Amino acid sequence: MRVAVFCSGRGSNLLALLEASEANLLGPAELRLVVTDSSAAGALNTGREWGLYTALIPRTAYHANRDGYERRLLDVLAEHEIELVVLAGYLRILGPVFLSAFPNKVINVHPALLPSFPGQNVWPDEVDGGVKLAGATVHFVDDGIDKGPIIIQGAVPVLDSDTPESLAERILKVEHRILPQALFWLASGRLLVENRRVKLLDGPSQPSGPFLIWPPLENRK
Ligand code: GRF
Repeated sequence: MRVAVFCSGRGSNLLALLEASEANLLGPAELRLVVTDSSAAGALNTGREWGLYTALIPRTAYHANRDGYERRLLDVLAEHEIELVVLAGYLRILGPVFLSAFPNKVINVHPALLPSFPGQNVWPDEVDGGVKLAGATVHFVDDGIDKGPIIIQGAVPVLDSDTPESLAERILKVEHRILPQALFWLASGRLLVENRRVKLLDGPSQPSGPFLIWPPLENRK
């Protein structure tokens, strides 16, 4: 399954995917193309260094013409025979022209436990809001913002000493683990979407470890 990774920034999630691919952890997923909307995106260099095709398609070149922008994206994906799309820190919203060409074939990583904290400014809002557990989500992309069916989530504690930056760093490590896992399942045909629920075919029927509760429960006897 040929995969394009869309990035707008430094590309650490792209790197996590590349390392997973090198370690044969992506199953039938073959990373082929990096698409960025910014020439400053570190992901562009990472993609080149690892021998992927790269495409710089600035959104600004299309002004208010989102449909034209999305048709250009689709043309580039068609040239490379792309079958799956991963949004990894891609800051543009994709609309119906693009998404209808890739139904249930576009996934996104978001640095929060959705449906809490969609959109931007996640880490300051979590720290200021006093939540005890934060985390990351990989989900299918639909026409809402950070709203599509959830594939996998990972949680981390929010410490009293956390700043938005330190929390973001802890969450990023979770992103780097759950995104390659989600892509493996997607490329392997293991994800069944029923309404808003994503079922993992041939997955475990029971949780294998303890639930994550933070702060930990104390022995109260
Ligand atoms: C990640 O936190 C991702 O969840 C968010 O933007 C960040 C991208 O980081 N949407 P990177 O470019 O993969 O390093």
